[in-house]
Amino acid sequence: MAVDKSRVAVGFMVAGVLTVAFGVVLTFVGPMIIDDQIVKNTVIDPQNDLSYTMWKDIPVPFFMSVYFFNVLNPKEVLKGEKPMVEQRGPYVYRKRCQKDNITFHPNDTVSYREYRKFFFEPSMSAGNESDVVTIPNMLVLGAAVMMEKLPYAVRLMISATFKTFKEGPFLTKTVGELMWGYDSGLVDFLNKYLPGMLPSSGKFGLFAEFNNSNTGLFTIFTGKDDIKNVHRVDSWNGLTELSNWGTRQCNMINGTAGQMWPPFMTKESTLPFYSPDACRSMELVYQRPGVMKGIPLYRYVAPKTLFANGTDYAPNEGFCPCRQSGLLNVSSCRHNSPVFISHPHFFNADPVLLDYVQGLHPTEEEHGLFIDIHPVQVVNGGFPTLT
Ligand SMILES: *[C@@H]1O[C@H](CO)[C@@H](O)[C@H](O)[C@H]1NC(C)=O
Ligand SMILES: *[C@@H]1O[C@H](CO)[C@@H](O)[C@H](O)[C@H]1NC(C)=O
Ligand SMILES: *[C@@H]1O[C@H](CO)[C@@H](O)[C@H](O)[C@H]1NC(C)=O
Ligand SMILES: *[C@@H]1O[C@H](CO)[C@@H](O)[C@H](O)[C@H]1NC(C)=O
Ligand SMILES: *[C@@H]1O[C@H](CO)[C@@H](O)[C@H](O)[C@H]1NC(C)=O
Ligand SMILES: *[C@@H]1O[C@H](CO)[C@@H](O)[C@H](O)[C@H]1NC(C)=O
Ligand SMILES: *[C@@H]1O[C@H](CO)[C@@H](O)[C@H](O)[C@H]1NC(C)=O
Repeated sequence: MAVDKSRVAVGFMVAGVLTVAFGVVLTFVGPMIIDDQIVKNTVIDPQNDLSYTMWKDIPVPFFMSVYFFNVLNPKEVLKGEKPMVEQRGPYVYRKRCQKDNITFHPNDTVSYREYRKFFFEPSMSAGNESDVVTIPNMLVLGAAVMMEKLPYAVRLMISATFKTFKEGPFLTKTVGELMWGYDSGLVDFLNKYLPGMLPSSGKFGLFAEFNNSNTGLFTIFTGKDDIKNVHRVDSWNGLTELSNWGTRQCNMINGTAGQMWPPFMTKESTLPFYSPDACRSMELVYQRPGVMKGIPLYRYVAPKTLFANGTDYAPNEGFCPCRQSGLLNVSSCRHNSPVFISHPHFFNADPVLLDYVQGLHPTEEEHGLFIDIHPVQVVNGGFPTLT
């Protein structure tokens, strides 16, 4: 029964989202043996070096590509004109993921934390981290929304502070500063007077919390009892469901952690996963077969209803209060600051949104969310961070 491990070919492809496929040479062995072998190599088991190491330190590079919408006419916007934006980037970061604090439990589950590190990859980027861009000042806009509930005197004081720190509605900084944080007197001030608004004290940046952080304590099934359960999340930070959304259905923690799924996918399968960064579970659905570098694959895409509002798609009511379809209001898990998630360029969103900004051109090829997987066994490089 022993099938030579060298027959287990490992390949990978880069396709917006990175995927890894386990292929098994079909010619010599019958389907039964292959299935047994795949199951053995898919269970999370420290006794199986190959699959355990694959799972623990996924041996392929992941890349996070970041684009900024540079606002070209900030002064005019303040006078009421439509914002005009220009896409800049990609600024590509190599992402190193490593699972640590691994504990196996007697009931065929395992807990771990996944730590991530990011490294700028100049050769893959269009531009460098010293590029300067102008974006809306999320601190000021966020504070303005939160201030509505504060006493008048405090509001007056905060407005005066914005002036003192020369912080306006737009921010012009380098990409590196916007990504990983910059020192700001305003941040120190806000931490003092609006405690809890900012996740940390000190620096403010879009990804300031990401480098050297972990995505929480995941407890997932090892698949030992039933291979269909492998990688499925049992709990996250001790929770079997979330509490930030309005309905039980929206609060459910479904599927895997978004990097691997059970083997033996069919066209009827879906790819459910829980994303701590998006604060919710999502599910991709089969779209079409394909081939990349000779490896057959299935493409799974985000359904149009993923970010639809509760009016357009009733099961999403729990994610509201909503705006137009295509926007996910995540303020309940961003310290109540007004943050929304969408596909890039408002792809699959209400077209009316495109009228509010000049310079957006959504296309499925460039802006759709998809995962290509080998139908038999898969490792995915992590879904794109949508923020
Ligand atoms: C996780 O592992 C790191 C390093 O191995 C250790 O410093 C930390 O205390 C561990 N955390 C928990 C919650 O076990
Ligand atoms: C498995 O055991 C862990 C640790 O004792 C526990 O937290 C978890 O709830 C159990 N899960 C299931 C599905 O029984
Ligand atoms: C992330 O942290 C590591 C150190 O752990 C550092 O080498 C690396 O430059 C940091 N990445 C960014 C983008 O700041
Ligand atoms: C970034 O690019 C600019 C112009 O293209 C160049 O002058 C600068 O030296 C570069 N900075 C780094 C750190 O490579
Ligand atoms: C979780 O899965 C259940 C059952 O498949 C589904 O009804 C629910 O909508 C899913 N929740 C989310 C947030 O995807
Ligand atoms: C839901 O989305 C539709 C289409 O984008 C929009 O016409 C409608 O006003 C939205 N409903 C709410 C409550 O915002
Ligand atoms: C977003 O959701 C929060 C509650 O989580 C709500 O207070 C806020 O009004 C919503 N924002 C918009 C613009 O609908």
